[in-house]
Amino acid sequence: MQGQGPGYPGGYGQPGPLSSGGQMAGGGPIQGGPMPGGSPPPASGPMPGGGPLHSGGPRPNDGSRVIPMVDARDVHKSFHHNEVLRGISMQIWRQEVVVLLGPSGSGKTTFLRCINHLEKINHGRIYVDGELIGYRELPNGELREDSEANIARKRAELGMVFQRFNLFPHLTALQNITEAPIRVRGVPRAQAEARARELLAKVGLADKADAYPNRLSGGQQQRVAIARALAMDPKLMLFDEPTSALDPELVGEVLKVMRQLAEEGMTMVVVTHEMGFAREVADRAIFIDGGVIVEQGRPTEMFANPREERTRAFLRKIL
Ligand SMILES: Nc1ncnc2c1ncn2[C@@H]1O[C@H](COP(=O)(O)OP(=O)(O)O)[C@@H](O)[C@H]1O
Ligand SMILES: [Mg+2]
Repeated sequence: MQGQGPGYPGGYGQPGPLSSGGQMAGGGPIQGGPMPGGSPPPASGPMPGGGPLHSGGPRPNDGSRVIPMVDARDVHKSFHHNEVLRGISMQIWRQEVVVLLGPSGSGKTTFLRCINHLEKINHGRIYVDGELIGYRELPNGELREDSEANIARKRAELGMVFQRFNLFPHLTALQNITEAPIRVRGVPRAQAEARARELLAKVGLADKADAYPNRLSGGQQQRVAIARALAMDPKLMLFDEPTSALDPELVGEVLKVMRQLAEEGMTMVVVTHEMGFAREVADRAIFIDGGVIVEQGRPTEMFANPREERTRAFLRKIL
């Protein structure tokens, strides 16, 4: 998001984002290494008015660079001849909550899936917390597909919550939550279960540990899914329309858990059309259309005063 200049400080009720990633000195490539095609990549979309949304927080005075939690650089992704992502560049800062908006088919899900390498990308790079995702870089700057073990290790650090809750139907809520910590991380069962009970309490489901998914409402299932993602202590949470499959009366209980996570300082990327949530919780909204970033800004400002006609047209439909 080169148009944004020196990064974007979270603020907006987040605990201490300025000191933990509010800006990125110079915006140059992280951790050295050549960027084929030169760096920085072209901006992924017009950012009329340009410039930082905020003049930025204090720079670290030790000369260190602040590494973004997500640094996507000119990401392109095609399915056959259909280019779905056409040069997405964005940086997401620690403890920042970013809402991705855009019409159906604009590439939002694809982009989230690229962040944890559920999709391979055709061009560009994605770094999470300074580590290249999906590939390793040879000394000559070429990229090679990363090993399965490395991909799995990096993916395990990211929590993903889908539109459909994707719980294992044959496992209880507790077992759904303990499964990955036990199997992937080798956490002792008793310890994993104790943590799972804490997480169930956190999402308001302390009494549902032994319930199977089919005995839980959609909102409860989605809260279990969030607890399951949290059980891996992710550094970043990706949400793909987490409430859009829910009956309207169940949306609030899921958003409440998400809001609480944001208040605790979790870095979150949320695809949602819940504009109230975006306004009240998100630090930044990014509008994507046709696989490019069309516009971004503080949600309150962008929703009240979109700069681009495409954004205006979209907001008219959903606000
Ligand atoms: N696995 C796939 N194979 C082929 N086309 C796909 C695949 N996944 C997504 N697409 C296409 O990519 C485009 C963007 O999809 P998606 O990222 O799901 O958009 P959004 O989440 O914004 O609605 C759509 O045209 C969709 O049909
Ligand atoms: Mg989608």
